[in-house]
Amino acid sequence: MQNLKDRADSLARAHRIVGRQPELRSILACLQAGRNVLLEGPVGVGKTALARAVSEGLGRGFVRVDGDGRYSEARLAGHFDPPGVLARGYLPELFIPGPLVQAMREGSVLFVNELNRMPEGVQNVLLPAMDEGLLHIPHLGAVQASPGFAVVATQNPREFVATGHLSEALLDRFELVVLGWQQAEEEAAIVHQEATQGPSAELVARAVDLVRATRSDPRIRRGASVRAAVAIADLAAVMGGDLDQAARLALPTRIELHERDENRVDSVVADLLAQAEKKSPRTATPSS
Ligand SMILES: Nc1ncnc2c1ncn2[C@@H]1O[C@H](COP(=O)(O)OP(=O)(O)OP(=O)(O)O)[C@@H](O)[C@H]1O
Ligand SMILES: [Mg+2]
Repeated sequence: MQNLKDRADSLARAHRIVGRQPELRSILACLQAGRNVLLEGPVGVGKTALARAVSEGLGRGFVRVDGDGRYSEARLAGHFDPPGVLARGYLPELFIPGPLVQAMREGSVLFVNELNRMPEGVQNVLLPAMDEGLLHIPHLGAVQASPGFAVVATQNPREFVATGHLSEALLDRFELVVLGWQQAEEEAAIVHQEATQGPSAELVARAVDLVRATRSDPRIRRGASVRAAVAIADLAAVMGGDLDQAARLALPTRIELHERDENRVDSVVADLLAQAEKKSPRTATPSS
């Protein structure tokens, strides 16, 4: 059997993952050892991309659930078709599996995005499934997980999570993989790969620099991800190289200031653009 390093390597190649070798190896090791993984990192850092690549690389299916405060236990586990039950009673064939039961039966990876936003009752449904591979459903009975079933969940960094922290019991069933921002060269490679409008290398580099500047500006509480850089590079390419206008369109939705004030986002963006221009003046003037 290939070692972890080689497998992480070929996974990255097959799924066009730039960098992230240590993280890929960690996630692979956890899943191979039958553990569940909690990925922690800011929006757009690559959590979904890595989880999907590893699940598929292990030959397992991938069932995705997005956490929200109104999600219910019945939605996660599954439910009986009400008219069917009225007419015929609780027959097993009338049970409509939810993503949890589906993943358990298939031996797939259940990917729970933003698990911390799920109501506590929903989080608790996962507990027995995660350590015993067992779920008891009233009127249906016990569902036993097939080999390969695991939970990969994400949460945003704890400082950004205003409400809803994971319970101690739930945390005790996860290994933690923390994802930070990648280096500028890697982010440029991602933008180059994800962009659809063929931005020049210079536009890509400028978009990446600008986005990275949002992460260290003291006025900004939450900076932008590589997704913003892709948007800026593509928009600028479409607008004849007008990076300023592209940034004004793409950044306001993707950064959050310390003090909430709609008008100031624009002036912070203008500032960042001026700083970027001073640091490395444009080589070509945008055509209009
Ligand atoms: N290392 C990487 N290699 C290749 N593409 C990447 C990498 N990291 C991120 N991306 C790309 O950047 C985009 C954002 O990544 P992804 O959706 O995985 O982030 P996320 O952490 O799941 O975000 P969210 O918190 O919004 O769910 C995707 O298009 C993804 O393919
Ligand atoms: Mg995601």
